[in-house]
Amino acid sequence: MAAFFVPKGLQRALLRKNLFSQKIKDMEFQSIKKAQAGISKISLLNSQAEIKTSGLSKEEQSWLKKRHSQKDYFSSFNRLTSFEFIQFSEGISGKTEAEKLEQYRGLGNKICAILNSYKLESIQLEGFDKQAMLAVAEGLCLSNYQFLKYRSGEKESNSLSKIILVHESPLKEELNQLEAICEAVFMARDLVNEPQSYLDAPKLAGEIRKMGKKAGIKVEVLSKSQIETLKMGGLLAVNQGSQTPPSFSIMEYKPAKARNKKPIILVGKGVVYDTGGLSLKPTSSMDTMKCDMAGAAAVSCALYAIAKAAIPVHVIALVPATDNRPGENAYTPGDVVTMYDGQTVEVLNTDAEGRMLLADALAYAKKYKPELVMDFATLTGAAAAAIGQYGIVCMGTAEEKVKSSMKQAGEQVHERLVEFPFWDDYSKLLKSDIADMKNIGGPVAGAITAGKFLEKFTDYPWMHFDIAGPAYLSSPDSYRGKNGTGTAVRFIVEFLKNYQA
Ligand code: BES
Ligand code: MN
Ligand code: ZN
Repeated sequence: MAAFFVPKGLQRALLRKNLFSQKIKDMEFQSIKKAQAGISKISLLNSQAEIKTSGLSKEEQSWLKKRHSQKDYFSSFNRLTSFEFIQFSEGISGKTEAEKLEQYRGLGNKICAILNSYKLESIQLEGFDKQAMLAVAEGLCLSNYQFLKYRSGEKESNSLSKIILVHESPLKEELNQLEAICEAVFMARDLVNEPQSYLDAPKLAGEIRKMGKKAGIKVEVLSKSQIETLKMGGLLAVNQGSQTPPSFSIMEYKPAKARNKKPIILVGKGVVYDTGGLSLKPTSSMDTMKCDMAGAAAVSCALYAIAKAAIPVHVIALVPATDNRPGENAYTPGDVVTMYDGQTVEVLNTDAEGRMLLADALAYAKKYKPELVMDFATLTGAAAAAIGQYGIVCMGTAEEKVKSSMKQAGEQVHERLVEFPFWDDYSKLLKSDIADMKNIGGPVAGAITAGKFLEKFTDYPWMHFDIAGPAYLSSPDSYRGKNGTGTAVRFIVEFLKNYQA
């Protein structure tokens, strides 16, 4: 046969057929019963004694023993066309099960980098218990994410494309779920990494429609004129400075056997770009503000994963979206805005825009008589300043029992929650001279006054999640990578997976 040029992606696609497998982007998961020769492998050994049965040569075994006694718990053997990695379980030192899972994801991250630097395509995992193995696989997969859309010429695409789990049973369900989650995180990162030159508010709604189609979720998008008819004053005020219309997307996943009678509602801040508006941001704080729709990305992609994994909960996602700009007609400090629910807001800083559109969405959520509402937003620099990129700031009025299961879900996926105080005292800081409230508090407790503002638009059990810290990173952090992280997708899925009405 003539030697046709076959692109690498297609070559790989042709190679992968058989077995139980799951594919996302250029990644594929497989589970098989026995490890294959000639493919890189990572094995977990539970003690020095297990070295004997590792299949390594005598020389390698004594080298490994020495490493182990020196407390070097990770080793690798270069087999020229593949690698053999050995991890001793003593090296996984986390104090809690959740900490250990995070270390397993970190192991996946470390190995992902090695495999890609040697242009290797596949890796097998052996000797781990199921949960640990899935965590390593998750770390490997999430670390392999790249955003190459805007690179011209030769694409420096990662070589890793197959993760093989060696296990006695096929892990079909588990891999299906892992695939759904990883795919959703990738999509959330893509959305965050997309600049506003592509992803404006109507486009964001379009992407949500596409996701809905792919996962079998009902999607309705309200246009500007519908938003006007509904009198969503907060969203429209922020949109006034823009040439581009706003959008309001409604996704609904209602499986036949849902565990909850009344829906759970997720609300995501969809500010596709935040210049600050007339209260203009300084240049350096503006650089990363394409990330200001990370809340929207988190809720829409989490819902996608929930539908894909067929998790039996009735969930609705609401995404109010616009950019925030100092255009000709921009809303102005001193303006009084009548919100969707009729309350009035004195705008004293146009850069406190997220709460304006979230408030409308939260008030809109009342019509569904929700069991619980959770909003996700890159809402305040104050939240990021308080705890950095290491967790999610939360606060709200949900029952203690619900809060505690949220915190547990957060630990499990290492998207940890920190609950801030939510005393009534903070509401006083929002008192306005001429309207029902102003849109900023005082010089202190900025993350909390933002939450208190939102609370005024709720009448149901509710939690607010400020993801300004972890949503977008300027340097890589393990499998979270750099730039858009897709933070909160895994948290939402984990929480709803375990949710009991
Ligand atoms: N989108 C920003 C918050 C933000 C800051 C997100 C850093 C991600 C990283 C939000 O709209 C904002 O500008 N908040 C103001 C509120 C202030 C004017 C009361 C802030 O935090 O400075
Ligand atoms: Mn802002
Ligand atoms: Zn913002």
